[in-house]
Amino acid sequence: MASLITLAILIRGTTTASQIGMALNIVLVANTTLLSLVTLWTNLEISLGDISRLKNLEANTPTEHEPHENNMAVDNSWPSSGLVEFDNVTVEYNPDAVALRNINLKVVAGQQSIICGCTGRSGKSTLLLALLRLLDVKSRAIKVDGIDISLVPRSLVRQRCFITVIQDPFVLAHRPVFGSTLIAMTSLPQLSTGQTQIFTLAQAILSLEGLKTATGISEAHQRGCANANAMLILLLDEATSSLDPGTEAVIGGIMRREFVEKGHTTIAITHRVSETLQVGGRGMIVQLDGGRIERVDDTA
Ligand SMILES: Nc1ncnc2c1ncn2[C@@H]1O[C@H](COP(=O)(O)OP(=O)(O)OP(=O)(O)O)[C@@H](O)[C@H]1O
Ligand SMILES: [Mg+2]
Repeated sequence: MASLITLAILIRGTTTASQIGMALNIVLVANTTLLSLVTLWTNLEISLGDISRLKNLEANTPTEHEPHENNMAVDNSWPSSGLVEFDNVTVEYNPDAVALRNINLKVVAGQQSIICGCTGRSGKSTLLLALLRLLDVKSRAIKVDGIDISLVPRSLVRQRCFITVIQDPFVLAHRPVFGSTLIAMTSLPQLSTGQTQIFTLAQAILSLEGLKTATGISEAHQRGCANANAMLILLLDEATSSLDPGTEAVIGGIMRREFVEKGHTTIAITHRVSETLQVGGRGMIVQLDGGRIERVDDTA
């Protein structure tokens, strides 16, 4: 710009004021354009870096699926009743952290079972993680309707067998995620833990009803859920622990009406066997301690 002004002064008389004004304007526009170009180029470089990192992550992250799993063909109607069996199951996070030891348990189809035990060391959540195949069973097997779930592709186990409300739910905004039912789905803003758990349950109920009135769910997903087997097993990890007693009672009523009375197997983890989750004469209360079954009260 300075050289333009110098030129205009040196060759005075050859240019008009408006020409100089126009030239100055062009210089200013060119300046802004160059600045935008540099910004866009920098953004492009950052985005290319992100893509490269994502591709690396995808290429280098080992898949959780094991080759033998894909060969296991299960009947389309599996699971048809919801019988869950733990056959001498041991689960460990690592050799020094054995979380479940020799668990033998049979949850009869349609039964409501409550798993309780001390905070932090009983292995309650581990039991659910093993059912969802997020942890591998070290010895023997977990069977659903007689089929060893370690032989079935994990995605199939999660989609076909379980509706899960996890202990520490998280929400992926704008993600219609419900396939594995591990993650609450929502396109709502931030929800608190209790709200997310209620939301997950609400979606679970909708999925059982073919997602008739659900909004924000992709068509493909709706098709997937509509095709899903109706005999899903409900897994609840402290699903009502962050709710007030009134809301807990309401949720308990909904669970009884929508799941227990409709014959779905329910496995609920709780610290307090409150009125809401009382098995009311039917079902089973399992007491875990240090990864072992301490006591089973079967009132079926
Ligand atoms: N990621 C992990 N790595 C190693 N050990 C773990 C891991 N997660 C849990 N554990 C251990 O496994 C045991 C059982 O943990 P788990 O989370 O199943 O307990 P919990 O009964 O669900 O407890 P809480 O009532 O606090 O939810 C504990 O001793 C815990 O320290
Ligand atoms: Mg837990």
